[in-house]
Amino acid sequence: MYVASDAPARKAVTLPALKSMKEQGRKITMLTAYDASFAAHLERAGVDVALVGDSLGMVVQGHGSTLPVTLADVVYHTRAVARGLSATLLVADLPFMSDRDVPHAMEAAAQLMAAGAAMIKIEGAGPICEVIAALTARDVPVCAHLGLTPQSVHKLGGYRVQGREQAAADKLMADARAVVEAGAELLVLECVPSDLAGRISQALAVPVIGIGAGPQTDGQVLVVYDLLGLTPGKSPKFSKNFLSGREGVTDAIAAYVSDVREGRFPAAEHSFS
Ligand code: KIV
Repeated sequence: MYVASDAPARKAVTLPALKSMKEQGRKITMLTAYDASFAAHLERAGVDVALVGDSLGMVVQGHGSTLPVTLADVVYHTRAVARGLSATLLVADLPFMSDRDVPHAMEAAAQLMAAGAAMIKIEGAGPICEVIAALTARDVPVCAHLGLTPQSVHKLGGYRVQGREQAAADKLMADARAVVEAGAELLVLECVPSDLAGRISQALAVPVIGIGAGPQTDGQVLVVYDLLGLTPGKSPKFSKNFLSGREGVTDAIAAYVSDVREGRFPAAEHSFS
């Protein structure tokens, strides 16, 4: 087994621990990882939650969207990441259409949990609430994902900020309440105005993790390749190159962790209004 043996020992991060971090106002740090080596860096830097995101379709496989990612792909990368972690909580994405009905979602979640995930992330609300309820009824912890949901890129008309108009903001608030009512224990909010993300975070009892959602959420998530400046082309406004001026990968990730915990990241220039 590939063990992050030089990682400082720490208590395993659990879902109740994340909830008490929210209650105590301590920021949660989350970062994507796709292989054992990056996972070991996350572990050493003290990241709370690792996400095997379907963003792997873009940053690892070179696709233009997350849509071509298969369940087998996410299972493969989840197994690899699990080998690099010890205390960090591991979340894996349900790829496009693996959540199309309850039986498919159950089978997908079973494979991802067997691969090492402790929680499954699922995009959307509406009909997805039935899937969330079925998974949580079978003790599969669920992280919901709202706002800019990349699997809906064609319906949304591109990768753009969500919830700017009043009606869209009201719908996002209602969807956030609905996914939590259905059983979600964590919520990722992507690319929404900071004020709205702050109001949703206050309204919900579960931790809300933002990406491009401003500083008022209970925690932050980034794509690790963005954080390291590895993504070709222009990096997203909501990200920051933490490797710049630092010695190496663990240092860069540790800087992200401490900047999130101390409220230095994200700043106004990484946020939307
Ligand atoms: O797939 C992914 O990496 C994600 C994060 C951007 C939250 O969903």
